[in-house]
Amino acid sequence: MTKIQTKLEDIKKVAKINEGKNLKYYILTMGCQLNENDSEKLCGMIEQMNYSKTENLGDADLIVFNTCCVRENAEDKLFGKLGEVKKYKEEKGTIIAIGGCMMQEKHIVEKLKESYPFFDIVFGTHTLHKFPEDLYKIITSKKRIEDILDIDGEVIEGLPIKRDDNIKASVTIMNGCNNFCSYCIVPYVRGRERSRMPKEILEEVRSLAKSGYKEITLLGQNVNSYLRVERENNIEIEKYEGVNSFATLLRAINKIDGIERIRFISPHPKDFTDDVIEAIRDCDKVCKLVHLPLQSGSTNILKVMNRKYTKEQYLALVDKMKAKIPNVTFSTDIIVGFPGETEEDFEDTLDVVKKVGFEQVYMFIYSRRVGTPGDKMENQIPEEIKHKRFDRLKQLVESQIEIRNKEYIGTIQNVLIEGKSKNNDNMLTGRTDSNKVVVLNGSDELIGKLIPIKIIADHMWYLEGTISK
Ligand code: SAH
Ligand code: SF4
Ligand code: F3S
Repeated sequence: MTKIQTKLEDIKKVAKINEGKNLKYYILTMGCQLNENDSEKLCGMIEQMNYSKTENLGDADLIVFNTCCVRENAEDKLFGKLGEVKKYKEEKGTIIAIGGCMMQEKHIVEKLKESYPFFDIVFGTHTLHKFPEDLYKIITSKKRIEDILDIDGEVIEGLPIKRDDNIKASVTIMNGCNNFCSYCIVPYVRGRERSRMPKEILEEVRSLAKSGYKEITLLGQNVNSYLRVERENNIEIEKYEGVNSFATLLRAINKIDGIERIRFISPHPKDFTDDVIEAIRDCDKVCKLVHLPLQSGSTNILKVMNRKYTKEQYLALVDKMKAKIPNVTFSTDIIVGFPGETEEDFEDTLDVVKKVGFEQVYMFIYSRRVGTPGDKMENQIPEEIKHKRFDRLKQLVESQIEIRNKEYIGTIQNVLIEGKSKNNDNMLTGRTDSNKVVVLNGSDELIGKLIPIKIIADHMWYLEGTISK
């Protein structure tokens, strides 16, 4: 039996035990889009094992938490939730499974065993495909399972998947990260960088297109180094449609009929080669919004962060893209209060924000992560200063977004209509190429269509539009 066949057999074994029992599962995903994509795979397997989804914790026979550990608040959230589910375990024996990035941290699993010993399964980021096997063991033997691998586990292709949306889909193109930015826990919990083979990715996108999906987001911690590790280490790359890099992957996906938009997160500024810039320019389906994580605008801090670019190199890259890609826009991630950040360093960050004019800035207060070099640095910034700087950055960003939003008024934007507006059932909602939310009046037949919309009003977090005649 091949590996995937074994996995499918495990699913069938559990499905048989559960048959006719009308069981339900609840899942909470706490992390980034990669984690959400993992959850979609978990849901795919769980639903084939005869559980149906519930949004109500109390109704569930199986509760799954898919955790994140990139910042401290993620931990508080998990422990809070565990406190909440204890009573269900006691009352009706609900199976409690905890997975994802945080489970790769030894001190967290120790804490769970000490303070929340009622869980049934913990599984890490390398053992997702073993979830059906773990569940089978719990159902048949009731012995608590820790299924965590320190080494990079295999990524098994062909597992079932249950996607959250029917217009937009995420496709993971690589796993892990080799960059070791000094603040970041991800390389320790997600393992080394490994790319999926071109054939697997292109076949997945083609089957999504066949099922009617319009927008694809390619996911990875460093997408523009796709297949680089493989190339550098002479690992055989299965030949498929000439794809051997991120740029050639974009070009190949751009040719797939039915797909109308391609996005990708996150690229790393240090790996933004000209072939990628040219592919973004040439491929009509690739959105011209580039998410380009800055982290800090200070060359000194960037060096300590191990980001491998300077303030000037970042700005030069932005200028190059502005010159080469018509209508390019940018979004970014910024960390405030990294150890040793001076007032001057922080002002460099503000300066880059002013110069680039981002569409969207995801702002984070530096959070110490056990095991990272940043955590051991002595010059930590006091909380109060971090918060004050965060507020100043937020103010600048919001004032810029306000100005940018006004510039949209009167323009025609291609908007992919995603569904009914959350706040008003009579309105539709969609997104521009630059990922701005647009709310408009229109009939349900427009859902899933990419149409020109005239922007007529602006608000902080969305624009109002009308169908352009
Ligand atoms: N690989 C991606 C995303 C990594 S995690 C990238 O390199 O851009 C998403 C964001 O979380 C990061 O871009 C960073 O801004 C933020 N982040 C990571 N570690 C953090 C920490 N210890 N404290 C605060 N923010 C952090
Ligand atoms: Fe973390 Fe840096 Fe890797 Fe992004 S590139 S996941 S920030 S180590
Ligand atoms: Fe994502 Fe959080 Fe893991 S950001 S990779 S879920 S640590």
